[in-house]
Amino acid sequence: MTLIDQRDEIKNRIREAADIVQVIGECVELKKAGSRFTGLCPFHAEKTASFSVNPQGQFFHCFGCGESGDVFSFMMKYHHLTFPDALKDLAGRYHVDLPERKMSDADRARMQKRDQLYRINKSASTIYQDYLLSSENGESAREYLRQRGVPDEIIIKYQLGYAPDPDVGGWKFITSRLQSKKFSTVLIEQAGLAVKKDNGGYYDRFRDRVLFPIFDMSGRVVAFGGRILGEGKPKYMNSPESMIFDKSRLLFGLHQHREVIRKSRRALVVEGNFDLLLLAVHGIDNVVAPLGTALTRQHIKSLRGYCDEVVLLFDGDSAGLKAARRSIPFFLAEQVEGKVALLPHGHDPDSLVREKGATGITDLVERAKPLAEFVFEALVEEFGLTLSGKSLIMQELAALVQEASDPGQKDLMVAHFSEKLGVSPARFLSGPVRSFQAERQDVGESSRSFQQLPRKQRQLVDFLVLYPEFLQELQKGGLAKVVTEPALQELVHSLEQLGKMGPVAPEQLLSLLPGEKDRQYVADLLMRGAGAGDEDGERGKALCDELLLWIKSALRQRDGASLQKQIHEAQRSGDFALVESLLKEKMNVIREKRLLSR
Ligand code: UTP
Ligand code: MN
Repeated sequence: MTLIDQRDEIKNRIREAADIVQVIGECVELKKAGSRFTGLCPFHAEKTASFSVNPQGQFFHCFGCGESGDVFSFMMKYHHLTFPDALKDLAGRYHVDLPERKMSDADRARMQKRDQLYRINKSASTIYQDYLLSSENGESAREYLRQRGVPDEIIIKYQLGYAPDPDVGGWKFITSRLQSKKFSTVLIEQAGLAVKKDNGGYYDRFRDRVLFPIFDMSGRVVAFGGRILGEGKPKYMNSPESMIFDKSRLLFGLHQHREVIRKSRRALVVEGNFDLLLLAVHGIDNVVAPLGTALTRQHIKSLRGYCDEVVLLFDGDSAGLKAARRSIPFFLAEQVEGKVALLPHGHDPDSLVREKGATGITDLVERAKPLAEFVFEALVEEFGLTLSGKSLIMQELAALVQEASDPGQKDLMVAHFSEKLGVSPARFLSGPVRSFQAERQDVGESSRSFQQLPRKQRQLVDFLVLYPEFLQELQKGGLAKVVTEPALQELVHSLEQLGKMGPVAPEQLLSLLPGEKDRQYVADLLMRGAGAGDEDGERGKALCDELLLWIKSALRQRDGASLQKQIHEAQRSGDFALVESLLKEKMNVIREKRLLSR
């Protein structure tokens, strides 16, 4: 048996063993409807059930969003697993043996070590939580949490814990408890819970702190964040990174909140752990917080699986502004819509929600501004739009653009900001700003801009910008014959040029289009189109088919018009045989047109 046969066989065995209704039923409330089961689709927000599970066929399908697949694709999509992990999960649950993959000794050792680290953290989390909830000495921490407005349900939901003051619990409170559970001291240290002293001894990292366990996406505790009770430095302390903890990837709260985030299609990002807790207390659950680091591209990537829009709830101070500014390239690169909501002066989400309640936050979120716009406005406010102000703004933005990871995103940002500043993209990254007037005259407005095209031709522009990969197909369908507008001809020409160099990233167009207005039009389109999410190209294909039909019928119409002219001429010259054959042709055209418009 080849490896592939073997994989297929295992796949089939698991598919047979796993009950798709049960697997999905754990995540979606399903009702029996005839031979099928139906429920609310977990992949898009809906109020009436259009999600259906078919036990005979062992597949699911949503009539609302079109999502469908088998038990593996459900596991992958719903739990964000890779295929092998989905396979492993189901194999474990339904007792299907997977063939032992040849593992090197080093692999095995690493796996065992990771496994130990997970156990250590899990064990520590339980000990810390028990201590918080039921020890006499946990009272100071319980009182602290009460004062901050954190009720017991929230303590339980987030599995908060407390590491005692050494005066009470000693310097090896957690270390000795874990040691007595036969965990190796070296690994306790590697998990970040114990710190090694110069003389070889160990002491606890976390002392007299409220602890927030950090979960990975599989729900395992991989680290802790700890806040000191009351005053003291450092205020917060996190576990160091380890084999199982990469803080640039994980977000506090994502494990607990991912379902809510998925449903609302939006995630709020706050800076602090207590901000997150207090929002949760007030019923706002679609929140995450980075772990004392700036937002990374990985963070945005992990949110992207759950939502279309991320709203940053930041302080209005300059650090908040810088953080927002730095995150722009990540949002662009991951094609997630980023927005910013600034908190009123002197507030953080925690204090705001306690003062104003949930609406204090939701009002802010509703008024959040798109990131790029927000940053631009902040810069204008800072430097003004005088010539020298513009120069400074350009310097700031140029630095930002340089951070963008791929050239397409760079072009997109340049196009966006250069339009806003009224300077040409070419000059955006080099040289001083000339007067506004001179810039304007640079730009020859040769033809009608995209904006002014007839509706259908504009639709073609929009489509081609977002889906350049369909250009050839449309050309085969007769695109060139219906494109009469020079602006659109130019776009098609630019796309052809680009296509010669390989697969086209829509943003590349921005460097080719000559007209300022057209570049702006395209940039806006891309900004709006970003994050539309069409991974399987279904939408693109459907739109393409629609446009092909339109091209066809436009051509027919033209044929019909020219036929009519020929018929007139044939009549005038008395060639009745020709008239008759032309009339037949015309009938055909009419009939076909009727078919098309059905
Ligand atoms: P803030 O200093 O803004 O504190 O830190 P906060 O969340 O308002 O704290 P409270 O309300 O006084 O408890 C925001 C986040 O930055 C990280 C933590 O994750 C904190 O939640 N941080 C802060 C650290 O990692 N270390 C620190 O010393 C301070
Ligand atoms: Mn705070």
